[in-house]
Amino acid sequence: MVELLAKPIGGLYVHVPFCARKCLYCAFYSEPSRGEVIDRYIGALIRELERVAGDLRPRTIFIGGGTPSLLNLRQWEQVFRATERLPLSGVTEWTVECNPATLSLDKARLLRSGGVNRVSLGVQSFDDTLLDRLGRVHSRQMAFHSFDLLRQAGFENVNLDLMFAIPGQTLAAWRQTLAEATAMGSEHLSTYEVIYEEDTPLYEQLQAGKIEANEDLACAMYEELVQRVASAGFQQYEVANFARARNTNNQLPTNDYPSLACRHNVNYWRGGSFYGLGPSATTYVRGVRTKNHPNTQLYCEQLELSRRPLESREELAPLARAAETAAFGLRMVAGWPFELFERVTGYDLRREWAEDMNQLVQQDRARILPDRFQLTREGLRFADAAAELFLR
Ligand SMILES: C[S@@+](CC[C@H](N)C(=O)[O-])C[C@H]1O[C@@H](n2cnc3c(N)ncnc32)[C@H](O)[C@@H]1O
Ligand code: SF4
Repeated sequence: MVELLAKPIGGLYVHVPFCARKCLYCAFYSEPSRGEVIDRYIGALIRELERVAGDLRPRTIFIGGGTPSLLNLRQWEQVFRATERLPLSGVTEWTVECNPATLSLDKARLLRSGGVNRVSLGVQSFDDTLLDRLGRVHSRQMAFHSFDLLRQAGFENVNLDLMFAIPGQTLAAWRQTLAEATAMGSEHLSTYEVIYEEDTPLYEQLQAGKIEANEDLACAMYEELVQRVASAGFQQYEVANFARARNTNNQLPTNDYPSLACRHNVNYWRGGSFYGLGPSATTYVRGVRTKNHPNTQLYCEQLELSRRPLESREELAPLARAAETAAFGLRMVAGWPFELFERVTGYDLRREWAEDMNQLVQQDRARILPDRFQLTREGLRFADAAAELFLR
């Protein structure tokens, strides 16, 4: 009965577990594709969508991966026929992640006409040598070309993903990529410091002493990033995310983030619920976290047998849930408004985490304002360490 009366879920993530080739640093679940495997995956995905459709009223949809833009036109049409069964009238932001090597004008137009209104383009760098070093399948020229195709197809909200602290990358090379990225006129930038994930070729190169990680250089690159993109008209609203402070018709800015911020991710950082479909995807609904099998074959088999493709299920105690919510939300520049935190979690940040907040304030990594708690610029650089304190 409670479930029936509960508010439908507003966030939908879909994981597409295929890539043309695996990048050397990437530990996300994806594999090089074959046509028939993709077709089988789409059939299974549609079954999974049907299972949850009744509990979904999406405000944001994010189709990520993997490389969603690897799907061909016919496969995208199948996906759109399935999503048409959802109540889509409330969707304000619908993002698809695209790799520059896999876009055509026809595909970009099909995505736009299917209702997608935001594209996240995996550019990573405008330096061809560094793109090779990362094992990317595209060149800088393809990134420029894809961006033009997206504009031609009518996309007015485009994000560029950029990576920094790439082995061999100099500060000058990073400056050059930042200059070229900001000159392109995208609405949003997401930036990623290279993480050496275990079981990746890049990690093995590090272990073998073939490359070195330079923490001081990474800090200098982050500083450069924050300054350069601010002077190019972007507003930082999260540790590594920046949006143009431009207004749009249907998205009003809030006090906490610009109108072109990625609303889907804001929902994650603010402790909101979401369904995650596809192999390896995580769902977080009404305090229960489930994770799908990170194995496309097993995922398909389970759904074909009308079973849920779950690898794990975890029900967090309310305080543990609140701690996670606190930790995630601190990544936002606006921090946590006390009132909002209490509304989302039922706990008072000032009562439960007073000691941790004071510790960060003493280290100049955070400040307590009358209405909220937020990290300082220094604190944002070390947001993961701050989050650890809250997690206990
Ligand atoms: C999961 S990928 C999806 C985008 C798309 N597959 C692409 O790469 O073009 C999202 C972003 O995560 C970042 N990423 C993945 N693995 C990373 C790592 N080990 N370190 C830093 N960033 C990483 C990349 O910048 C990538 O654009
Ligand atoms: S970074 Fe993107 S394209 Fe590269 S392997 Fe990971 S998901 Fe695939």
